[in-house]
Amino acid sequence: MERIKRLHVFAVMLAVLFQSSGSNICSTTISEDLRRDCHPEPGATEAACLSRGCRWCETSSLNVPFCFYDSTEDAACPSDVPVQKRVDCHPQPDASKEKCEAKGCIWCSTKVPNAPWCYFPADDPYGYFATEKPQKTSKGWRVMLTKRDTMSLFGNDISPVAMDVEFQTNDRLRFKIYDPNSERFEVPLKIQSSSAVAAADTRYDIEFINHSSLQFKIIRKSSGTVLWDTSLGDLIFSKQYLQISTTVPSTSVYGFGEHEHLSFKHNMNFVTYGMFTRDQSPAPFANLYGVHPFYICIENDSNAHGVLFLNSNAQDVTLSPNPALTFRTIGGILDFFVFLGPTPENVIQQYTEAIGRPHLPAYWSLGFQLSRWDYGSIDVLKKTVARMQQYDIPYDVQHGDIDYMERNLDFTYDTENYSGLPEYIRQLKKDGMHYVIILDPFISKDEAPGTYRPYELGEEMGIWVNNSDGITPAVGKAWPPGDSVFPDYTNPKTADWWTQLCVEFKNVLDYDGLWIDMNEPANFGNGQQPGCAPNDINNPPYVPRITSNSLAWKTLCPDSKTYLGSHYNTHSLFGWSQTAPTFYATQKATGKRAFVLSRSTFVGSGKYAGHWLGDNFSHWKDMHMSIIGMMEFNLFGIPYIGADICGFNLDTTYELCLRWMQLGSFYPFSRNHNAKGNKEQDPAVFGAEFAAISRSTLLIRYTLLPYLYTLFFDSHVHGNTVVRGLMHEFTSDLQTHGIDKAFLWGPAFMIAPVLQEGARSVDVYFPEASWFDYYTGDEVPTSWHKKYVSVDAPLDKIPLFLRGGYILPTQTPATTTTLSRLNPFGLIIALNEEGKASGMLFWDDGDSIDSIENENYFLAKYTFSEGQLRTTIVKNGYRAVDSLTYNKLQILGVASRPNTIVLNGKVISNENLQYQASGKLTLQISAPLSQDLNIILQYNI
Ligand code: NOJ
Repeated sequence: MERIKRLHVFAVMLAVLFQSSGSNICSTTISEDLRRDCHPEPGATEAACLSRGCRWCETSSLNVPFCFYDSTEDAACPSDVPVQKRVDCHPQPDASKEKCEAKGCIWCSTKVPNAPWCYFPADDPYGYFATEKPQKTSKGWRVMLTKRDTMSLFGNDISPVAMDVEFQTNDRLRFKIYDPNSERFEVPLKIQSSSAVAAADTRYDIEFINHSSLQFKIIRKSSGTVLWDTSLGDLIFSKQYLQISTTVPSTSVYGFGEHEHLSFKHNMNFVTYGMFTRDQSPAPFANLYGVHPFYICIENDSNAHGVLFLNSNAQDVTLSPNPALTFRTIGGILDFFVFLGPTPENVIQQYTEAIGRPHLPAYWSLGFQLSRWDYGSIDVLKKTVARMQQYDIPYDVQHGDIDYMERNLDFTYDTENYSGLPEYIRQLKKDGMHYVIILDPFISKDEAPGTYRPYELGEEMGIWVNNSDGITPAVGKAWPPGDSVFPDYTNPKTADWWTQLCVEFKNVLDYDGLWIDMNEPANFGNGQQPGCAPNDINNPPYVPRITSNSLAWKTLCPDSKTYLGSHYNTHSLFGWSQTAPTFYATQKATGKRAFVLSRSTFVGSGKYAGHWLGDNFSHWKDMHMSIIGMMEFNLFGIPYIGADICGFNLDTTYELCLRWMQLGSFYPFSRNHNAKGNKEQDPAVFGAEFAAISRSTLLIRYTLLPYLYTLFFDSHVHGNTVVRGLMHEFTSDLQTHGIDKAFLWGPAFMIAPVLQEGARSVDVYFPEASWFDYYTGDEVPTSWHKKYVSVDAPLDKIPLFLRGGYILPTQTPATTTTLSRLNPFGLIIALNEEGKASGMLFWDDGDSIDSIENENYFLAKYTFSEGQLRTTIVKNGYRAVDSLTYNKLQILGVASRPNTIVLNGKVISNENLQYQASGKLTLQISAPLSQDLNIILQYNI
């Protein structure tokens, strides 16, 4: 069965490729009278049909479905469960008819790719029913549930269980199923109701229906759409296996991480994703570094909702074509939060309100960054930096990977190969740059006594992850020589130890930020020494769909002990628990806004850290995957995100790296990083042409940094995404639901990179709006709207478009943000069809802690309508703006040349304005930033 499942995964991938080619070969052996309708509800289309794994054949015969099951076996299945509704009753490998039927389930083969052959019967014996009527509580409802039968999937079922439903806010509902008689692990992320009582004016209704087992529904009041319905598969709540299924109202489902997803919009053909933090290079279907059991779904009428499953145990989710989701976890409780939107942006705002708003990154960290693992020596590093400077490539941050350390030991530096590093860092900082160092979460225990303080202090403080005895430290093997122990960051004492070391080390290397790597946690063995004991914790009855089918692979044994409990529960919280202490340690060490880049993340990590997408490959397809990953992490509340530009593993090529520099210039976290042993790939190493193209693209990034920074401000304060899919902005346009090769910065700036070798054009989809070419200011013809159009993209150009209706603040770029921040500002005013636009600028010193809380910032709002730009200075709390000016305005979409233009009461002379017939008006001006900017375009009547 396992082999069959794997083949099915491959078949699913083929199906996706097949569908995207748009062809439907209608050949079937199933006669019309035997067709079983696979899309009984209205709105069947070929695409929707194929996405269910069914066959689409049009016919003129009456009452014969076009969309039907592609299987004769299904017709013979002894049950009334259609294939798309099947919920796997034997999710572990090696299913057989005997084992399946022994569980009271149905065994029936099907040709539908990946569909389970062993599935729950319609009237399945596994559910729970309510023994009494639901009781009203101050926050909502409580219902006590009793298991219906003795049938058990993995034994140790718990009964009764309690279900609490909390109306937390008008837009947020929580429901939690737990054991009322015994405490189980709960993720220590406190998501509070805003009030102690149930929200009164909710966007949702709930329904309990007590059939043979309890059915629970969540309904959007305004439309009647059922967002959650557990009638599909019944609840399982046992000691080490919890399962719940729900229907979802459409197949436009996004999220669940961390994975390398092949598409942003999910394939729902019985695809299963395991979630368990893992040191694992991106590969489709592999569980990667972080865990984000969060999805967003666009309903058929374009409303959106999101759902968080707050659980940190190893888990998986199956997306099935009903459409439905089945969640399986091996511990904790079933704790769900539903966010009602109704727009995708509202969903993320509500989600980050609950889990913590993204941190505001330092301005310098929006500059371009360079890294590589193993420069080999400080001389090579210096040469690299020098050629970047020689070509004037914008460049703000240099990273130090583990080779800066002495023998890979945290809190040391290599005084031979990197002799003079402290002085060199100081030099870089004098040049306006910043330096970030890597730290790993394993500490060598085998250095000579009295020589390695990080270990000795930690040992004294008793802060390591322990073996199952809870006393002796777990010993594994990682980069440092000898063996290592692992700090237990769930222990508050560990934060003290870490802070002390980070603060002390700042006196050795004057770093500006910390990059925390390998914190899944990675260990090079299969569990710590001497291996994992054979028990139910290390070998649970069900192992979710994770790589290598083992919880201990490349990490610690699940029965290891942390302060918060067993590693079985806290494994995927390791990196998360390291992040807040690192954030505060960095703040304390630098006295400035923290820069923390974490490889492992969990729900809520964005409050303290950014993330990169891990050890990708120098392959063209990885560029595409990076866009999907970047959009997903924006859903997860971690908008400071990017991938290793030019690819981490393998040697890159000139063209791949050049196209990746163009795409990466628009990652919020823009860093070129490379693995040990690969050929150099910094943008200066390929010669003058490459350097010039990289430079010009990065200059566009630097020009738009005030816009990007303002988006981060918005994200920090209101929870918006920074990078978003077109689906967020044009939700009712179904074409946008599947777009993942182009993306937006905020609502207003579209990036459509070249992702194919040799391509000199890109097919760009333009949703219904005014669009302007960034380079020329020319308006995209309306005939291009709602179509894919081939746009020129010679090697030196990445297609970029501005959306009408928006005002983007800009600044004259420079080679560092330290310099660009002193330059004059500009505005790009892209008008919509009504001649209107709006936007804002947030500005502060870029690296103080809490500049918003302390009101040390500047915030201006701009509106343009009826030929007039008006500015409202909402906040004028940052005095350094007094020396800053505006020098340039571009207004796009101006129907004709104005006769006179008045700036703050004075007419602008002709030599300072330029009008192009395409509707682009450029004004050279000089006006203080700290005062209202008012401009009137006047026409003689
Ligand atoms: C793994 C990280 O993902 C990679 O970025 C880094 O270069 C290596 N560890 C070495 O530190």
